[in-house]
Amino acid sequence: MENAPSAEIEEDEIICNCFQITESTIRSHISKNDVSQVEDVTSACEAGGNCGACQILIQLFIDQNKYQKTLEQVPESEISKSKKGSFWKKLLSNS
Ligand code: FES
Repeated sequence: MENAPSAEIEEDEIICNCFQITESTIRSHISKNDVSQVEDVTSACEAGGNCGACQILIQLFIDQNKYQKTLEQVPESEISKSKKGSFWKKLLSNS
């Protein structure tokens, strides 16, 4: 079974077919430069600069990065506070 493919290896998917730019290249650029617009990614690595079909995925990566950074800024104490006072918990305890 020496040549059996490993299930743990994930391929770096090509997101921009026009310029053959991979997901990791795009995510890396977004994360390092704190990019907020697709145009910034395009000027850095050309992704999204031709047909535009990949722009929705680039925007998704930008939004995910923004969300991740926001989560990192919230102190742990705030997260546990919000869990205690969740909307659903309050709603169910009042019924
Ligand atoms: S697929 Fe990215 S510009 Fe065409």
